[in-house]
Amino acid sequence: MTNRLCYVCEGGDCTEKGSGDVFDRLRDLIKTFDPNQERIKIRRYPCFGACDQGINVTLYPDKVFYSQVTVEDLPAIAKHIQGEGPKVDALCGKVPPDVEQIIWDMLDSPY
Ligand code: FES
Repeated sequence: MTNRLCYVCEGGDCTEKGSGDVFDRLRDLIKTFDPNQERIKIRRYPCFGACDQGINVTLYPDKVFYSQVTVEDLPAIAKHIQGEGPKVDALCGKVPPDVEQIIWDMLDSPY
């Protein structure tokens, strides 16, 4: 699958909870199996509108919305991204479906 994207929230609340560190560490983990970000690109995202549930990390177009992510979760998330492990269900479904949908609609939109 090409053009896969992993977004880590960099909004105020998520940043306060340590999303800068989550971004750096997840990027480093992804680098171990995809050094040039050919299979998945990791990017920061301004705010997912689910600040209470942060730190939020999403995968697109997989449409996986991980919430309450800590650095301890990152090896499992990286394995899932790599296709070597299952989706981390314990971190999914914490955000109302309509909030998730707003994000997917926004990412689906070419504008
Ligand atoms: S600050 Fe991360 S979802 Fe708003």
